[in-house]
Amino acid sequence: EKGGYKHFMAKEIAEQPVVLADASRHYLSEDGLNLPEDLDFSKISRLTLVACGTAFYACSVAKYWFEQLARIPVEIDVASEFRYREPPLPEDSYAIFVSQSGETADTLAALRYCHEKVAKTVAVVNVPTSSIARECDVALPILAGVEVGVASTKAFTCQLLVLATLALKAARDRGHMSEAELARHMDALQSLPALMNHALALDDTLNEVSNELSEARDVLFLGRGAMYPLALEGALKLKEISYIHAEGYASGELKHGPIALIDSHTPVIVFAPHDALFDKTVSNMQEVMARGGKVLLVSDKKGLDVASDGVWQTVQMPEVPDLFAPLLYAIPAQLIAYHTAVAKGTDVDQPRNLAKSVTVE
Ligand code: F6R
Repeated sequence: EKGGYKHFMAKEIAEQPVVLADASRHYLSEDGLNLPEDLDFSKISRLTLVACGTAFYACSVAKYWFEQLARIPVEIDVASEFRYREPPLPEDSYAIFVSQSGETADTLAALRYCHEKVAKTVAVVNVPTSSIARECDVALPILAGVEVGVASTKAFTCQLLVLATLALKAARDRGHMSEAELARHMDALQSLPALMNHALALDDTLNEVSNELSEARDVLFLGRGAMYPLALEGALKLKEISYIHAEGYASGELKHGPIALIDSHTPVIVFAPHDALFDKTVSNMQEVMARGGKVLLVSDKKGLDVASDGVWQTVQMPEVPDLFAPLLYAIPAQLIAYHTAVAKGTDVDQPRNLAKSVTVE
């Protein structure tokens, strides 16, 4: 049932081009976006996105999309904080709950808090029969197929795909996107499965790097813009399955404290596609190297051509449309965690102290 792979996690990472293509076929059709008609963002004053763990990082990426494309204010929060804060919610807002299992206790409680307070509750879930799917006004399946590995992988990228289509719909509804732009973004999303295959082909390189990472006691992940939540996701993935202490930071935050941690034993993994923020991230990366830090730079050819000097290791990713780079860069984040854990000999599919579905708070 592991389809020839050593672990479910490896199988589920490798499945991403296929499941993402399935989800794309469902949500992006010839005539446009296939989303329920009654999801209308035109008169919505705010969006609230709530989830836990990896699903929360998917929400964190989506915040950049909703703000940038649809110019809509977005609040994101982890469900365990949201539910007890009793936040005020505008009646003309939507609340979106993202959950692979659809049974996470805190996310479900956050949803119940929002009933009657917002115009609509929306579930982005993998299990269509789950409590969260049933209790939301609108349930959107992420179509990732069963995810067995405790560390979420394919559910994350499929959550991102569904959230990206919602952001495109919101942009259209609010008059911020022309037909031509929509078509261009849809093409970009549809190009991802093929690009993911190229990223998966970096497996050997990432395996070699991970052998060295497995010796580290601490690892830092850096990113800017939508690569910042991806840095958080990379750190979560690494710590949960390899038990190596890892932290993700917004690159620009480095000099406000964490740079004190840099020494020659602490690998720093930088996710930096050659986009509008590239130069800023590279300058943070150079600050790390100036203090003896060991940098692993994950970028594309353009980025590596100009910024590889003095870098410990480079990983050359395919070029990807800027906006949707987090879906592609999720692959090296996952593979680094996977191979590091395998090198350490930990139980990849069943890491200690963790459960696949967290139904108690
Ligand atoms: C991390 C991971 C967890 C879950 C979190 C939420 O790899 O899997 O952080 O993302 O427990 O679970 P769901 O999505 O089922 O609500």
